[in-house]
Amino acid sequence: MSLSEARLSTDTRPNDLEAYWMPFTPNRAFKKAPRLITRAKDMYYYAADGRAVLDATAGLWCCNAGHGREEIVTAIKRQAEELDYAPAFQFAHPYAFELASRVAALAPGDLDHVFFCNSGSEAVDTALKIALAYHHVRGEGARTRLIGRERGYHGVGFGGISVGGIVANRKLFGTLLAGVDHLPATYNREHQAFSKGEPEWGAHLADELERIIALHDASTIAAVIVEPMAGSTGVLPAPKGYLQRLRAICDKYGILLILDEVITGFGRLGHAFAAERYGVRPDLAVLGKAIANGFPLAVVGGRADLMAGVARTWISSTLATESVALAAAQATLEVFAHEDVCGHLHRMGTRLLHGLHRLHRKHADLVTGVGGIAEMCFLHFASENISRDVARGCAARGLLFKRTAYNFVSLAHDEETIDRTLETLGEVLAKAEEET
Ligand SMILES: Cc1ncc(COP(=O)(O)O)c(C=O)c1O
Repeated sequence: MSLSEARLSTDTRPNDLEAYWMPFTPNRAFKKAPRLITRAKDMYYYAADGRAVLDATAGLWCCNAGHGREEIVTAIKRQAEELDYAPAFQFAHPYAFELASRVAALAPGDLDHVFFCNSGSEAVDTALKIALAYHHVRGEGARTRLIGRERGYHGVGFGGISVGGIVANRKLFGTLLAGVDHLPATYNREHQAFSKGEPEWGAHLADELERIIALHDASTIAAVIVEPMAGSTGVLPAPKGYLQRLRAICDKYGILLILDEVITGFGRLGHAFAAERYGVRPDLAVLGKAIANGFPLAVVGGRADLMAGVARTWISSTLATESVALAAAQATLEVFAHEDVCGHLHRMGTRLLHGLHRLHRKHADLVTGVGGIAEMCFLHFASENISRDVARGCAARGLLFKRTAYNFVSLAHDEETIDRTLETLGEVLAKAEEET
C-alpha cells in the first residue's frame, strides 16, 4: 500500500492481523481468536462488541488510578493543544522541571534528582549506566560488574536482560553484558507456599552476595539491582529482612543498590514506594508504569552525587520528556495527592488476599499456593493445565488477569469488583474440580 492509499483508508477495524507482530504473545493462537480491547473506563475494559471485561491486572500494573480518569484525560488534551513536543536536549519546557521536582519530593530518601525515560526497560539500562559512570568518575573504574537475581525481570534492553534472570528472555541473545552475576531467587515453594505478607523464610539468601563478592572481589562490583517484589515470574515478595541485609552488605563494600520499582512504585505495595515499606534506602530507584497511569514515562531517581557521573555522559532519548506523557504523570500524581491511593489499595488488597486464602481452603487440590502482600497477590496451581484452564474460564466470564500472577488491585477496584473477582475464580475452580 502506498502512503497516499494508507492515508485514504478510513476503516479503523483491522482486517489483516498479520503485519503486527505481538510481543510476549503466542501470535498464531492470538490471531485465530483475537481479543481486541477498544475502550476502558474505571475497572473495566470493553471489547468491540461492547462486552465488559473486569481488568484485574490494573492495566499490567500501570493504571493504579483506574482507567480513563477524567482529570488525566483533561490534562493530556490541554497539553497536546499547548505544546506537543519540545527538544529534550539543549532546550526544555517548564513541565519537565515541575514534574522532576514533584517526583524528587515524593521519591524515597535522598533521591532528589530524576532522569526521564520512555519505558521501564530504558530506565533500567539508564540506571545501570549511571552506576557505572559514577564509579568511573570517582576513579574506581574497575567496578564494572553488575549483580542481578535469578527470576528477576528488568525489561528488554540488553542491560535489563543481562541482570534479569528469565531464561526465555536471554537465551537467544548471545553473551549479553559481560561481567554479570546473579543472586539466587528468593522464592521457595516448600517454605513459602502459603504466606501472608512477606515470607518469614529467606532473608539468608541475601548473604549469597557475600559469596559473589568473595569470588569477584568488591573492587570489581558496581551495583546490585533487584525488584523489591518480583512481579513477572510470579508475585514474589522479598522475605522479611532480605532487602535490609542486601543494603547492609552493599554498604559494607561500597556497592550501589538499585531498586527496580517499576511495578512497586506509586502505591502498589500500600506505600508510595517499596523502599518506604521496607525502610531500605536505594542509591538509585527505577520507576515506571503507574507514574503516568499508563502513558509512556519512566524515571530513574538518584542522589545528586550519583547523577554527577551522568553529566559527563550522553544518555537520553528523543522522547524522554515528551510533554503529553509528563502531563499525564502530573495529573496522576495530583490524583495520588488528593486520594488515599495507598490506603485504598491496602484495604481492597486485604479483602482480595483473604478471599484467595478462602479459595485455597475450599479447593486445596487445585490451589497449591497463595501468597503476596495485600496489594499484589498470587495463586499457584497444582499443574500448568489447571492454571491455563482457570485463566481461560475466567476470560470467558469476563475477568482478565495476568497468568503468572493473580492480582492486582487498582484504585478503581471497590468491594463489589473484588467480590466479583473472587466469585468468578470460585466458579471456575469449582468447575475445574468437577472435571478432574
Ligand atoms: C520490574 C520491572 N522492571 C522493568 C520493566 C520494564 O518496563 P517496560 O515494560 O515499561 O519497559 C518491567 C515491566 O514489566 C518490570 O516489571
